[in-house]
Amino acid sequence: MATVLVTGGTGYIGSHTVVELQGEGHEVVVIDNLSNSEREVLEGIASITGKMPFFEEVDLRNRKATYGVFEKYPRIEAIIHFAAFKAVGESVEKPLTYYENNLLSLIHLLEAMNRYGVHHFLFSSSCTVYGEPDRLPVTEDAPVKKASSPYGNTKQISEEILRDAMVPSPQLRVISLRYFNPIGAHPSAMIGELPLGIPNNLVPFITQTAIGIRDQLNVFGDDYNTPDGTAIRDYINVVDLAWAHVTAIDRLLQGKQRSPYEVFNLGTGKGLSVFEIIHAFEKATGVKVRYRVTGRREGDVEQVWADTGYANRELGWKAERGIGETLLSAWNWEKHLQSKKTGR
Ligand code: NAD
Ligand code: WQD
Repeated sequence: MATVLVTGGTGYIGSHTVVELQGEGHEVVVIDNLSNSEREVLEGIASITGKMPFFEEVDLRNRKATYGVFEKYPRIEAIIHFAAFKAVGESVEKPLTYYENNLLSLIHLLEAMNRYGVHHFLFSSSCTVYGEPDRLPVTEDAPVKKASSPYGNTKQISEEILRDAMVPSPQLRVISLRYFNPIGAHPSAMIGELPLGIPNNLVPFITQTAIGIRDQLNVFGDDYNTPDGTAIRDYINVVDLAWAHVTAIDRLLQGKQRSPYEVFNLGTGKGLSVFEIIHAFEKATGVKVRYRVTGRREGDVEQVWADTGYANRELGWKAERGIGETLLSAWNWEKHLQSKKTGR
């Protein structure tokens, strides 16, 4: 079992991954600056696993503070790098903030790896790198399209930085995981997604509408060239996604890679439309979602879902949880947040 540094470990995907890593016996050190998460998440994690991860409140833009974590935990053998800003719309408003945060954090970690002799790195990339794909389902060798937002561009540039950084550091071993659309929450409802303000993403908007925080959901366009006219995505349960990280860490640590830099799609392999998600939510929870159809959202692609064959074969991993179970977990998490707020 290894000591794994998880950056962004109090965030949405990071916290679920910490739980799965601890469940497998790994020791976890979390770095987070709490810019988009809360310290309390650590208690949520500990309530599930019975174990508090080590926590360092550090901003990865601060090189010295980042090095300090490696000095303090010389046992770190592998890094999972989740920490980043991720709001597509905000990245258009504040491009330099996004480039600074997402790229500088990565560079500081790579510098620290050189300096402290850490060789295994798992990177959170995104299906956004494929843009509007020419062929579906999307395979890992599909061309990377011009990014439609500074956020998307940070993922593309990060993948390039990783490839370039490996040239003079032959010991470096890297896996980029391209997530499709992560949704849902841990079945215990002790951790989940914590959107700040009005959610950008579909599922948190649905659960907030269902619970009465929002009046109605805006469905962004029903005139796409899809069977029901709404856009199609590959929605993956966050616990399934978290588990993929455990398999990828094992692959890195056990030297099972086919090449020093690898890329995997993480999705279900199945596309669902916005209307299908609304109906599946209503079916799973028995709660109606008020919605109206509005215009398309700028920058949205029409349809994208993953070819997961490579991840299935090489990582021995497959998304297992169905959409009903996943949406129910998102709903239970929303109810948990509500009961915390109202004290009931
Ligand atoms: P999140 O915002 O919930 O988690 C990211 C965490 O990183 C937050 O806790 C935040 O406080 C922290 N952080 C940000 N900048 C930091 C810095 N400079 N120093 C230290 N901590 C910092 O996001 P998430 O949904 O869990 O996403 C995790 C990763 O996965 C991100 O890299 C994101 O771009 C990527 N990703 C997310 C999705 C998605 O839909 N959620 C899809 C594809 C890829
Ligand atoms: C899903 C579908 C919307 C909200 C984003 C990022 C991507 C990746 C995942 C990080 C789309 C529709 C949404 C709403 C709606 N993140 N929708 N009403 O846009 O596929 O991907 O998150 O890497 O980079 O772009 O996810 O959840 O925002 O939207 O109709 O209020 O739901 O148009 O078709 P998206 P999403």
